[in-house]
Amino acid sequence: MVVLLAGGAGYIGSHTAVELINAGHEVVIVDDYSNSCPESIKRVEEITGKSIASYEADVKDKAALRKIFAENDIDCVIHFAGLKAVGESTRLPAKYYRNNIDTTLSLIECMKEAGVTKIVFSSSATVYGDQKPPYVETMPKGECSNPYGWTKSMMEQILTDCAKADPELTVVLLRYFNPIGAHSSGKIGEDPQGIPNNLMPYVSQVAAGVREQLTIFGGDYPTPDGTCRRDYIHVVDLALGHIKAVEKILKDNICDAYNLGTGKGYSVLELVNTFSKVNNVDVNYKIVERRPGDIDACYADTSYALKELNFKTTKTIEEMCKDAYNFILKNK
Ligand code: UFG
Repeated sequence: MVVLLAGGAGYIGSHTAVELINAGHEVVIVDDYSNSCPESIKRVEEITGKSIASYEADVKDKAALRKIFAENDIDCVIHFAGLKAVGESTRLPAKYYRNNIDTTLSLIECMKEAGVTKIVFSSSATVYGDQKPPYVETMPKGECSNPYGWTKSMMEQILTDCAKADPELTVVLLRYFNPIGAHSSGKIGEDPQGIPNNLMPYVSQVAAGVREQLTIFGGDYPTPDGTCRRDYIHVVDLALGHIKAVEKILKDNICDAYNLGTGKGYSVLELVNTFSKVNNVDVNYKIVERRPGDIDACYADTSYALKELNFKTTKTIEEMCKDAYNFILKNK
């Protein structure tokens, strides 16, 4: 299959490109490099030994998309393109709604024009809102605590409505939990611009001496050690989930959502302590007040993804911590 990765130079897109190529598929990447860089595509080429067709373009730009669909025989699209900083989305909501929704609409319209009927969408566990975990796909979607989350929820709705209206359109919504870690080569990984918003890049940067101290948001949650619990999933396992999704839409005409998580919750302190132990490095931290919008616990029910996609994670929290540190040491 020829798979177009919209936003394919980013953290999850680049790991998915590697696994798609390893599985025998061909990839085409479109990315505006607003939160990534062309170097990551070069690194994917180094890892796989294959060259990749890539386009620098904004995925909102329909003229650019039309050219890409005309020049390549695309069978399927995976849509990773989008803004994802939760805090920024609360300060600049219009920017998030404009960018994320328009990107999705442009893609879906250009797919229709080009006769491409299969799309896998990067959604998020954030669409469940603040319900009691484990999150099951049959739960109604919840109240999101920020505009970023609402864009994910709305994009799911848009794709679902489009699939209802067009019986040929096949949609897989992948609800990611907390992707961390990096490719074992250390060539690609999470490389946020500026101060990291997410926990693992912050932990790695403190361990590697790039930043002085980690602030842990909240030590008084109703969890065993008082810090929030999350379902951390190795980014390579997450990437393999996309291969399962692509295999699924090759054979079934569906519109469905699947959780991509491990089903296990680890607290912030458990993650930090595991990181220190497996990498034999200190992580200086202090516990401060809660971060607005955080929920105490979030983890997946993985049974539906196992049943329908035959998806199961294999990588441990120790491997996630080792690979994240290896990446920063090789790239700091
Ligand atoms: N945390 C800290 N210090 C930091 C950063 C994070 O203590 O410097 C804590 C947070 O308070 C939270 C945990 O680490 O308890 C994980 O935080 P992240 O920011 O890494 O991830 P979130 O769970 O907040 O959000 C992630 C993705 C979102 C997605 C959500 C879905 O970043 O895109 O999971 O559940 F919507």
